[in-house]
Amino acid sequence: MKTMIKNATVILPEGRSDVSVVMENGKIVDIDAGVGLSVDETIDASGKYLLPGIIDDQVHFREPGLTHKEDIAHASRACAKGGITTFLEMPNTIPNAINQAGIDNKIAIAEKASLVNFGFYIGATPHNLEDLKNAVRTPGIKIFIGSSTGDLLVDNQDDLERIFAETTLPLTAHCEDEATVRANFERYKDSRDIADHSNVRDHKAAIVATKRAFDLATRHQHPFHVLHVSTGDEAEFLATNPSEYVTAEVCVHHLFFNVDDYPRLGSRIKMNPSIKNKADNERLWQALLNNEIAVVATDHAPHTKEEKFALYPDCPSGLPAVENSLALMLNEVNSDRCSLEQVVGWMCEAPARVWRIQNKGKIAVGYDADLCLIDMEREHDVLDSNQVTKCKWTPWHGERLKGKSIRTWVHGELVYSDVDENEFFHESYRGRLAEFGNG
Ligand code: DOR
Repeated sequence: MKTMIKNATVILPEGRSDVSVVMENGKIVDIDAGVGLSVDETIDASGKYLLPGIIDDQVHFREPGLTHKEDIAHASRACAKGGITTFLEMPNTIPNAINQAGIDNKIAIAEKASLVNFGFYIGATPHNLEDLKNAVRTPGIKIFIGSSTGDLLVDNQDDLERIFAETTLPLTAHCEDEATVRANFERYKDSRDIADHSNVRDHKAAIVATKRAFDLATRHQHPFHVLHVSTGDEAEFLATNPSEYVTAEVCVHHLFFNVDDYPRLGSRIKMNPSIKNKADNERLWQALLNNEIAVVATDHAPHTKEEKFALYPDCPSGLPAVENSLALMLNEVNSDRCSLEQVVGWMCEAPARVWRIQNKGKIAVGYDADLCLIDMEREHDVLDSNQVTKCKWTPWHGERLKGKSIRTWVHGELVYSDVDENEFFHESYRGRLAEFGNG
């Protein structure tokens, strides 16, 4: 079946263009086709914008083992709704994904349950170097240099040196310094004030760990991606020390929330790394606009309402975001903070480049027909009650955003549409394992 999307403004690698896009057998086969081309289906997208599907390179979908919080079936529907066509998922499930069997098991689950494409990181431990060296069908290795949800942690310098020296897959890490966090926690251990989370996981914890990982990556000349940069200090450090080996990511909550939001949102915005100050929000935006940070992702990490609304410090860290991340960024485009081309750079092209994802991240002939059609005029309310994630709450509850994904295609199949207020999910479609050029 040959489908043509016509009359949309298409965000191509070289910029926006009013061209038609033709897809067949899951691929983009023609751009700006001649008027005489015969197709089976034509979609008139007048007034809308066509983007490559969003690639979210940091999510926690909790399967296996923690499916009371989230599962791949719910989370991948939320991705489809949010314009995300490929997700890369973190290893802190139960069991942790720390060997090939763990990766293969997750792939098998996703092949049965996921509406969109997927990939699964392998987690580092102090003892699984051989697994890390031999892993396949994975984008890369995740290291918790500081601990977060779960028990994964590699904090010993010799262990880290070996991982950076002896593995070949791209590396990525949660950068918060364990010793700093523990010492701070001792000081605040009797606190029941959620705002102290940002004093425990403070600016120092973030910059110390990011500098440590940067040093390892540059000395060992090993491709390394700093996850969820949360401070202006880290952004400044990365800007003044550009390295061909190091890329970085910022998550939407670190762009949109700061400590002034604790009184309003409480544990809904308890995250690791913690949210920081307004000045950090601003420096992180600047880093994106200056191309000092390449990727925007979510760190989608749901917990149930009951877990989340326990008293600090017992409430766990993590918030859901995949169904709103693109819309939050589109709202910023509508406020003139950034351009649609920049959003495509941060959420499509850069993650594909960092993780060497084959044939994704761009609208180009021969690339996968993973696409997202957006309506920049569409206003919509983000509400706990309209979320499709399993946990059914969002820290953006009550916000009205302008700009929304209204159709999502995965390998040329329409998996989600929201046209004339009628939501449709192609429930039986299944995404595929993304291909990584790291083998
Ligand atoms: O707040 C967080 N929650 N940060 C992480 O790095 C992990 C995540 C989770 O898995 O809950």
